Amino acid sequence: MGNIIRVTGSAVEADGMRGNTMYEMVHVGREGLLGEIIRLEGDTAFIQVYEETAGLTPGEPVRGTGKPLSVELGPGILRSIYDGIQRPLEIIRGEHGDFILRGITVPSIDKKVKWHFVPRVKKGDEVKHGDVLGTVQETRLIEHRIMVPKGIAGKVQKIEKGGFRVEDAVCAIQSGGKVHKVPMMQTWPIRKPRPVDEKLGPEIPLLTGQRIFDTFFPLAKGGTSAIPGGFGTGKTVSQHQLAKWSDASIIVYVGCGERGNEMTEVLQEFPHLKDPKSGLPLMERTTMIANTSNMPVAAREASIYTGITLAEYYRDMGYDVALMADSTSRWAEAMREMSSKLEEIPGEEGYPAYLASRLADFYERSGRVKNLNGSTGSISVIGAVSPPGGDFSEPVTQNTLKVTRVFWALDTTLADRRHFPSINWLTSYSLYTNKLGDWFRENVNREWPHLRGKAMSLLQKESELREIVQLVGPDALPVSERVILEVARMLREDFLQQNAYHKVDSYCSADKQFKMLHIILEFHKYANKLINSGKTVKEIMDMDMVTEISRMKHLAEKEFNQMYTRTIEKMKGG
Ligand SMILES: Nc1ncnc2c1ncn2[C@@H]1O[C@H](COP(=O)(O)OP(=O)(O)OP(=O)(O)O)[C@@H](O)[C@H]1O
Ligand SMILES: [Mg+2]
Repeated sequence: MGNIIRVTGSAVEADGMRGNTMYEMVHVGREGLLGEIIRLEGDTAFIQVYEETAGLTPGEPVRGTGKPLSVELGPGILRSIYDGIQRPLEIIRGEHGDFILRGITVPSIDKKVKWHFVPRVKKGDEVKHGDVLGTVQETRLIEHRIMVPKGIAGKVQKIEKGGFRVEDAVCAIQSGGKVHKVPMMQTWPIRKPRPVDEKLGPEIPLLTGQRIFDTFFPLAKGGTSAIPGGFGTGKTVSQHQLAKWSDASIIVYVGCGERGNEMTEVLQEFPHLKDPKSGLPLMERTTMIANTSNMPVAAREASIYTGITLAEYYRDMGYDVALMADSTSRWAEAMREMSSKLEEIPGEEGYPAYLASRLADFYERSGRVKNLNGSTGSISVIGAVSPPGGDFSEPVTQNTLKVTRVFWALDTTLADRRHFPSINWLTSYSLYTNKLGDWFRENVNREWPHLRGKAMSLLQKESELREIVQLVGPDALPVSERVILEVARMLREDFLQQNAYHKVDSYCSADKQFKMLHIILEFHKYANKLINSGKTVKEIMDMDMVTEISRMKHLAEKEFNQMYTRTIEKMKGG
């Protein structure tokens, strides 16, 4: 047991801590506030405290727990909203008002509720770490798979179906002369990646239903992506769209709000989002970690690890998980604040020198994998970044882009022009494009990569032509180039713009994305043909077909398919 010698906000120094270990969880002060040792020098420990430290004074005791900061894993995680160290917000708020009380230990998952456990293995079976022992229906949408915890392997001695609490033993496993009683709940230290058998390649897209993402800059299942954007450019709306529409089974949403009310908005909105496929609340397959601005910075620092550990646990069950962090800048700022309180040598813009490696370690925990139990699962990570002034040259954006493989660049100019999603199509990229091109070719249309390439080069050409137009006016351009400008405008307005709030347009299937693009590119050919037969650009753009094309995004799938066939036939024939 040690004693406090100094308190600086969430950072506490204590001496007499020889024998304690790095990242050990400790109880600080008479109230037993929860903290974690983040540096040890001789017998002095530097502790980040996850609770409000006001009133804490030198001389108060610090007690080690001998355990690293861990999360509780088991049924009951989905539908929960947690703070950065997995304390359920609703319970804390519900019972004690709007504040998180200090030193209270509330269970992360409900210990009283009974779940109906159905075995998957039987007496006599050999099982090892990661194997699925049985299942419980955690929510209406998700079956929870109870797995053998680390360090246990042997023969099933007893397993029964029935109602159990998470701490009750559901299975007895015999190894050597010893019998392990295995409950549904297990714990895992948040800073340590959960093991996998093998990392697999990024071969399957995480389909999002958002045209600019899927068609132009696709993300792979198990991939990583950064969405940096200045104030109000659409980070949160994009993250919500991905949470709702992406074809991941489980959503882990880590919200790090800056303004006090920003997180409140998310907390109010998110529980009302509907899962489009089932019509049930999205929370039935979501767990949320919320950091409001009045919570201690240390909890915000931990929240990212808590989130990714929960994601890994569901991945281990064989699910595709998508983790959204909005915004990772707030996390990096928490790191900076802690670092400065610990008087570490600051790096670029005051961020600690380990900013880059922390970001890399976090994104590293993504991936599509073969699990220990032989199933396949994935964690895709999408991190929003909010660079001050929208300036992407700052350290958090730059270090994020070094490790993420997709860059969705939000653009203030586009947002100001109300072009949504305001993703810049000239500066964004996806390093998965080629790999996933094969998937799209086989599963959607053979022409997919080809059409994508054509559309991109038309937009590229447009930006060059626009510079000329600014100098000499549009009339100086040859007709074929004026046609390019019109087609590029159609690509931007009729294809890339997608209204998150429109009933139909909010989601666009991969098939519809392809066909929409096909129509616009066929129109380009058709327009050139009409030009050759003497029509003017104005005459062409006045055709009803142009209006029809501009409305195609709002057509439901069936109606759209009719319009597609009709339009393509007309252009081929005409
Ligand atoms: N895809 C979209 N469809 C329609 N509107 C959009 C879309 N994306 C963004 N918007 C509009 O832009 C506004 C700001 O978006 P959002 O709140 O996501 O920005 P942000 O980058 O998260 O902002 P902040 O920096 O404040 O966190 C939204 O309220 C909405 O009106
Ligand atoms: Mg936001």
